[in-house]
Amino acid sequence: MDLNKGYYIYTFGCAMNEYDSERISSSLEIRGYHQVLDTREATIIILNTCSVRAKPEIKIASYLGVIAKDLKRNDRDVIIGLTGCVAQDQGKKLLKEFPLVNFVIGTDAVANFDELIERALAGERFVDTSLMTETFVIEKFKRKSKISAQVTIMKGCENFCTYCIVPYVRGVEVSRDVKEITDEIKALIAGGSKEIMLLGQNVNSYRGKLENGSIAGFSDLLGSVNEIAGVERIRFITSHPKDFDKELVDTIAKLDKVCKYIHLPAQSGSNNVLDKMSRCYTVEDYKSKIDYAKSVIPNISFSSDFIIGFPDETEEEFQESLDLIRYVDFDNVFAFKYSSRPGTKAATYKDSLDNATKSRRLAELFALKDEIVTVKLAKLIGKEFEILVSGRSSKDSSQFHGLTEQSRGVAFSSSKDLKLGDMVNVRILEARPNSLLGEEIE
Ligand code: SAH
Ligand code: SF4
Ligand code: F3S
Repeated sequence: MDLNKGYYIYTFGCAMNEYDSERISSSLEIRGYHQVLDTREATIIILNTCSVRAKPEIKIASYLGVIAKDLKRNDRDVIIGLTGCVAQDQGKKLLKEFPLVNFVIGTDAVANFDELIERALAGERFVDTSLMTETFVIEKFKRKSKISAQVTIMKGCENFCTYCIVPYVRGVEVSRDVKEITDEIKALIAGGSKEIMLLGQNVNSYRGKLENGSIAGFSDLLGSVNEIAGVERIRFITSHPKDFDKELVDTIAKLDKVCKYIHLPAQSGSNNVLDKMSRCYTVEDYKSKIDYAKSVIPNISFSSDFIIGFPDETEEEFQESLDLIRYVDFDNVFAFKYSSRPGTKAATYKDSLDNATKSRRLAELFALKDEIVTVKLAKLIGKEFEILVSGRSSKDSSQFHGLTEQSRGVAFSSSKDLKLGDMVNVRILEARPNSLLGEEIE
């Protein structure tokens, strides 16, 4: 191993960034680099950034601070690059602000990483934040063999929810061709993957070309992926409630490999707040979509995102979010304090809410979520689930570990020598707050 060829990459943000980090890693590994987990062992350092909430931006500055100190102390020659959404958003400013940074590559320009890294290695300092607006092609890259693999199906977002920076940093919506996606999935399956997670900010808007030139929608794409031999489970993120229609629900019902567990971010349970967010649905719409899905697919369950403390959110409006959480009985809820993003519409809204109130509301929401999850877990005892084996349990090596369709981790005993990626039936024996225990059944 060439000690001068270590690269370090840190990924902030969402699954799309994780996918892009894999593309970057692949490009570097083809050049003979190997991944290291300590910046002090790296000659290339990449921070793949996220700007969805303020904190990650602060984290970058502090990361760079730590790296800078070490470099000064040891007088090392290192190439530092920023990629991802902050890179896209702030471009040139980052080069100016951080003299240590050699290059800034935006969310679409990452497609040219092969060429761009050569320029960086040749000593050039540059910014590339060009966006793709016509076609979206991802060249084949060396994928890591993982039981659960992510595949980006489209880029961008055109919804412009008033709080959100994503449309500004990921550009317009463009979909990959169906064949490009299914080829990538077939290669992943050949490499040992069993579960495929389709990625897009707004997967319901997928409109990809078929080989005959006609256009496939998201339901069509799901159908094509469902047909690929060796795919055991299909998941997708994220589905926008306004487009979560009957056709999609009926498709999910019909396709055996699609997990009956859907992430459907509600953001708020108040019509006034939803309107100010420009989410294009009401609480009643949201509930009726959930009701329809539950009527067609009795075992379906949902997770969601909520934003707490949107500008001037009243106590009643916040309580309406809790009401919605109770109504849907979510399997999981992610919640974030509202963070004002410069350039977005909501950043111009008057906001008189203090931080202590936001913190209290967030804590209250999480307490409700814990309560709901505890009740749900207790109901699982004695039930049987199909589990995708992800390995031996980290706590007890005589036990195996795997995931249910609802993405719940289960540690279980088996008399067999199970392999990674096996599918087995497991009965739940015990439900603890953060873990389920079970046994394999024949
Ligand atoms: N495209 C997806 C998710 C995008 S970002 C969707 O539409 O649901 C992931 C989550 O971050 C969002 O669901 C939202 O809950 C949260 N988020 C986005 N912008 C935010 C902001 N300015 N402040 C706080 N949370 C935000
Ligand atoms: Fe942001 Fe809304 Fe697009 Fe999601 S749908 S990425 S929240 S603008
Ligand atoms: Fe963050 Fe960009 Fe994803 S802003 S959440 S990394 S699309």
